This record gives sequence, C-alpha cells and structure tokens, in this order.
Amino acid sequence: MQFVRKTEGSAAVLVCLCNALSDKHVRACAGQCSVSEVYRQCGCQPQCGKCAGAIRDILREHQQPANAGGAFLEGAAAHPPSEG
Ligand code: FES
Repeated sequence: MQFVRKTEGSAAVLVCLCNALSDKHVRACAGQCSVSEVYRQCGCQPQCGKCAGAIRDILREHQQPANAGGAFLEGAAAHPPSEG
C-alpha cells in the first residue's frame, strides 16, 4: 500500500508508513547501498519492515542505468547464444 502526498510541483509517494519516509527521502539516500543504511541516514529504524522491498527497489533503480537496454542485457546474459 502506498500513499501519495502532494507537494509543490510533484507528488511524493510514502514508502514507509511507520517512519513517514517518502520516495524522495529514499532517493536522497541513493548513494547508500543497503536498506538499513537508508534507515540510518534518515535517522530512523525499521519498525514493521514492510517497506524494505520498496526501498530496495528504489535503490536498485539508482544503481542500474536508466534505460530498457539494461533489462535486455540482463535477459541476454540469462540466455546466452548457443554455440554451433
Ligand atoms: S512501513 Fe517502514 S518500517 Fe513499517
């Protein structure tokens, strides 16, 4: 479940209800490499943990190139061309 909170010019998606962390909070911590580091950077701790997957997804978005070609290459690596 996600809640959208309107802010000036853009919408922030609340990803952690327990700590009122939005996607913007998480994106500001995009240099962090783990979910627990995001909590620590935001000065809070996980409570129920239901947001961990969403936070992890946002971190992955920032760690991967922002194009569909990356997804294609991942698929190609999983199914390398056969020899012959
Ligand atoms: S929703 Fe983030 S700890 Fe509960």
